[in-house]
Amino acid sequence: MCGIVGYIGNNDSKEILLKGLERLEYRGYDSAGVALLDEEGVHVFKEKGRIATLRKIVDKNTHAPVGIGHTRWATHGVPNRVNAHPHQSASGRFTLVHNGVIENYEQLKREYLPAHSFTSDTDTEVIVQLVEKFVNEGKSVEEAFRTALRALKGSYAIALLDNENKDVIYVAKNKSPLLVGVADDCNVVASDAMAMLQVTDQFVELMDQEMVIVTKEDITIKDLKGNLIQRRPFTAEIDASDIEKGTYPHYMLKEIDEQPFVIRRIIQEYQDENGNLKLDDSIREAMKDTDRIYIVACGTSYHAGLVGKQFIEKLSNIPVEVHIASEFVYNMPLLSQKPLFIFISQSGETADSRAVLVAVKKLGYRALTLTNVPGSTLSREADYTLPLYAGPEIAVASTKAYTAQMAVLAILAVDTARAKGISLDFDPIQELSIAANAMEVLCDSKEEMEKIAGEFLIHRNAFFLGRGLDFYVCLEGALKLKEISYIQAEGFAGGELKHGPIALIETDTPVIALATQAALNLNIRGNVKEVVARGANPCIISMKGLEHEGDRFVIPAVHELLTPLVSVVPLQLISYYAALHRGCDVDKPRNLAKSVTVE
Ligand code: F6R
Repeated sequence: MCGIVGYIGNNDSKEILLKGLERLEYRGYDSAGVALLDEEGVHVFKEKGRIATLRKIVDKNTHAPVGIGHTRWATHGVPNRVNAHPHQSASGRFTLVHNGVIENYEQLKREYLPAHSFTSDTDTEVIVQLVEKFVNEGKSVEEAFRTALRALKGSYAIALLDNENKDVIYVAKNKSPLLVGVADDCNVVASDAMAMLQVTDQFVELMDQEMVIVTKEDITIKDLKGNLIQRRPFTAEIDASDIEKGTYPHYMLKEIDEQPFVIRRIIQEYQDENGNLKLDDSIREAMKDTDRIYIVACGTSYHAGLVGKQFIEKLSNIPVEVHIASEFVYNMPLLSQKPLFIFISQSGETADSRAVLVAVKKLGYRALTLTNVPGSTLSREADYTLPLYAGPEIAVASTKAYTAQMAVLAILAVDTARAKGISLDFDPIQELSIAANAMEVLCDSKEEMEKIAGEFLIHRNAFFLGRGLDFYVCLEGALKLKEISYIQAEGFAGGELKHGPIALIETDTPVIALATQAALNLNIRGNVKEVVARGANPCIISMKGLEHEGDRFVIPAVHELLTPLVSVVPLQLISYYAALHRGCDVDKPRNLAKSVTVE
């Protein structure tokens, strides 16, 4: 997690860095800082809290053509001013920002700096002290930086300033994302292209264990032995308007509303002019060739994977297992003869998922990544990628990426079925279009959703009940509600309640139940009766054609397999309004970050 930026050029770096950091706040937002380097030397400003707080303390009169910045999600040391980045070497000569985790920082302290007294509790500080130590021992700054990097174990995206050389930013990357942006009169550094789009759309991607010497005219990429590496920039294809809120009060609401358009875009991108699905032959072959698929993901993406399992098993007849990445990596199940791994990740940078990818690639297995960020680590390191086409998702709580993941999984399942000669009794493109239209109807029902949130989500807890596909959507609905409103929310399989959780039901306990599965309609209603008999306050959201009297909301009818794309929208909206009513910071919930780049 954490985000870093850097600027070196002719202009005042201050505003460029602060704006860049604001765009990286999705990566962490518990403390932030900048270091500005001008003729007088380096000026460090850092504080606990958001970029808005940092803005207030940055000296308006400092005009520096070089600077670096950081927004933090604490891993080592509580979020406070001392632990905030940038960190400085003992003499103050070197100043550094870091995203990642240095796993061997304690060992490095013992081995190289036993007498040094560290000012922060971070793993980061050891890097800057090491650079200074190696320089004091007679190495050039570049060689000292490289020597320090070679000693590090773990993940890092680093930017380093040297007070005695105001013409350079030293940069390095391993596992954590980092790009160097190139422009006519300056060069920049950022964890994500979005942060520096205001300056350039030309970026050079860095690979693991590479360093870069960035001056205002040039960038020089080297490996950790000092060998030169040539790499051309690519054009970041992000529409600047995609990353603005426009007239919306929150990114989350904007992103919920964008979902119908995302589904339509996916239909367009995955279809050729003759209406045939357009997937790489290599992906098709890999799907046809496997005897078992292992879907690996975290959080919301894991929930999309659960739905994806149903699509693939039901349509293309391939057994699928779905695993939480952080568990899988330490407890790999017995694998089949010809496994295919599917990684689902909005950001493409999630460290837990990447750890599994690295492990299965080492074993020689094939991997496909579904991601919203082509070019991200999980996309680069897998054999195949399917883009989600959801556009940048800024709100920490994932919404449009989740529905996009399910839509792409549906397309993959249909394509595989066709490739295997399995005939389907429905037109998937038409059904996806119907689902997109239904999502639009739901996005237009905000007033009703706000009312439901006001009626039901006013307690410390809430339960979500569903069966079949509805159960997976309930898991996602509960995650959405808890992460942004801090209401204790759990999703349960309807039939499982009586095996324990029903003990939690008290008078007025809110129970949101989904009823979109024809074969399970009576069963879920029976489960609702069980909780009502114990005092619960039920809110049934059903699908047209399956509704009963007293249902609180009826969603438009869509193909039964695609109901998760649609039934999640009311759950996203009621979570949004519940969070709003409780005065929570919807887009940046406490303790979270969007891109979880630590294991
Ligand atoms: C919840 C949420 C997270 C992510 C999870 C995986 O709203 O966004 O649960 O889904 O951290 O992230 P990605 O998909 O980037 O791998």
